[in-house]
Amino acid sequence: MEQHENAKVVLDGNTFELPIIVGTEGEKGIDISRLRSITNYVTFDHGFGNTSNCASAITYLDGEAGVLRYRGYPIEQLAEQSSFIETAYLLVYGELPTSEQLREFSESFNEPSMLHEDMKNFFNGFPSTAHPMAILASMVCSLSAYYPGIDMMNPTKADFDRIVVMLMSKVRTIAAFAYKKSIGEPFVYPRQDLEYIPNFLNMMFSSPTHQYKIYDEVVQALKVLLILHADHEQNCSTSTVRLVGSSWANLYASITAGICALWGPLHGGANEAVIEMLEQIHKDGGDVDKYINMAKDKSNRFRLMGFGHRVYKSYDPRAKIIKQCAHDLLDKLGINDPLLEIAVKLEEKVLQDSYFAERNLYPNVDFYSGIIYKAIGIPMKMFTVMFSIGRLPGWIAHWKEMMESPGAKIGRPRQIYVGPNIRDYVPITRR
Ligand code: CMC
Repeated sequence: MEQHENAKVVLDGNTFELPIIVGTEGEKGIDISRLRSITNYVTFDHGFGNTSNCASAITYLDGEAGVLRYRGYPIEQLAEQSSFIETAYLLVYGELPTSEQLREFSESFNEPSMLHEDMKNFFNGFPSTAHPMAILASMVCSLSAYYPGIDMMNPTKADFDRIVVMLMSKVRTIAAFAYKKSIGEPFVYPRQDLEYIPNFLNMMFSSPTHQYKIYDEVVQALKVLLILHADHEQNCSTSTVRLVGSSWANLYASITAGICALWGPLHGGANEAVIEMLEQIHKDGGDVDKYINMAKDKSNRFRLMGFGHRVYKSYDPRAKIIKQCAHDLLDKLGINDPLLEIAVKLEEKVLQDSYFAERNLYPNVDFYSGIIYKAIGIPMKMFTVMFSIGRLPGWIAHWKEMMESPGAKIGRPRQIYVGPNIRDYVPITRR
């Protein structure tokens, strides 16, 4: 990180100098790490909208220009030309693999793809109505009870490499098993002869009486979605993974925390909420104006799901690719989904509406992704699970970067206390 001239802060008549740091894309930040020790002041920043918690070399995002790159590579090029496994390797290890490294990495997913026999019983403990995100989070945390983790006092590369493939491989199996559990069908086991995405589709949709036909178009669409979800720098779930991991909690626990953070409808859960909203509009006769007006009404908590973003103040580059991908897939599969028409109509109206224009609210990654999942046959409750499978390499890459960073510290924000001042305890008999 380059260091430039200092920023000057004047407090109570005294001037303090704070270093300005500059990232490789010219982003500037004021380093306030010594602020409290030299001034006795802290900063106040609801939702961390202006606070960097780390320097990171993983993902670059320019929300004004709609730019997203993993390790310097534009997301558009990766979505079109790379595979999910290659992109995962890039995110975690920092460089694109050679063909030998990619072959080894891909093959290493086979052996750990099964779950411990005892863990399979866990699925029976959940009610059939359980949300698959609850199952996913519980099962990922449970992995720590069955498979050795990383010795946090003496972490080794071999341990880390083993856990990366184990997590990515098992998460896919857990997701498919959670789905099978929810529909009361027997588990379909992973197959060594299938690649990552076809293997997942086979576990999801084959059954003892039916061999699912894996279409290239479906694999391609799912690949694009997984790549586009693979990382997004310091979003809520990734920051959670970093925060939990900063206490040296094991990688399984840190990833579980990320899964839980992702579940919320303001974050990854939005993909499920978008389809619920579009279905509701459809049932209501397709009246998009009614929902636009509801979203603008400040006395109503309703928001247009799949619109807006903390960082993007222009069109989310992922949404652009996913929208096209949704049209292409539905065309190829010959599906006529009225929800896609409603989504397009809603987007058109929103983009012409001054409320949304003034607030820079555009469709985000979650707006069109559910239409693709739906076309593939993935049920709505599984959408955020799909997001988790995609985001896993990003979470792992950030955990690794944090653990390897020489300046890493336990995450521990400050607060401005606004509660009562000191007062004497009054026994209950005298209250
Ligand atoms: N519908 C209507 N109004 C909105 C929306 C929306 N979807 N999003 C933001 N606004 C308004 C908000 O009410 C506020 O208005 P005002 O200035 O009058 O108070 C203004 O826009 C700024 O919103 P904010 O809540 O301060 O912005 P934020 O950066 O804190 O929130 C967000 C970002 C993504 C949580 C929010 O835009 C939102 O709730 N969107 C809907 C949920 C969604 O699609 N989430 C997925 C995000 S992308 C993928 C991911 O992160 O996983």
